[in-house]
Amino acid sequence: MGCHQVDRTRVGPPFVAIADRYKAGGDEMVGYLANSIRNGGRGRWGAVPMPAQPQVTEEEATAMASWILSLASQQ
Ligand code: HEM
Repeated sequence: MGCHQVDRTRVGPPFVAIADRYKAGGDEMVGYLANSIRNGGRGRWGAVPMPAQPQVTEEEATAMASWILSLASQQ
């Protein structure tokens, strides 16, 4: 949580913004975001890259991805 907050930009984008961007993709987005969490990435939100999180297991990443997607605003 040093880099992300639920509803405000910190180093990384807010989790609600991530949820809103990907919610239309449905269940496939859980796997996509789980990979994003473990591999990190750059250029999708801004100039600052996210480092890979190899200490996060696939199972943990999947759980976090599901939780993030659950934060999407209802509309
Ligand atoms: C387990 C911890 C973390 C989780 C669950 C997480 C989750 C995410 C997710 C789901 C995305 C969106 C990826 C996409 O659009 O495909 C993202 C992007 C990002 N995260 Fe994290 N993150 C974590 C740790 C961190 C850390 C430690 C940092 C900072 C050192 C960070 C900084 C960023 C940044 C800068 C982006 C935007 C990257 C881009 O523009 O492509 N994140 N994160």
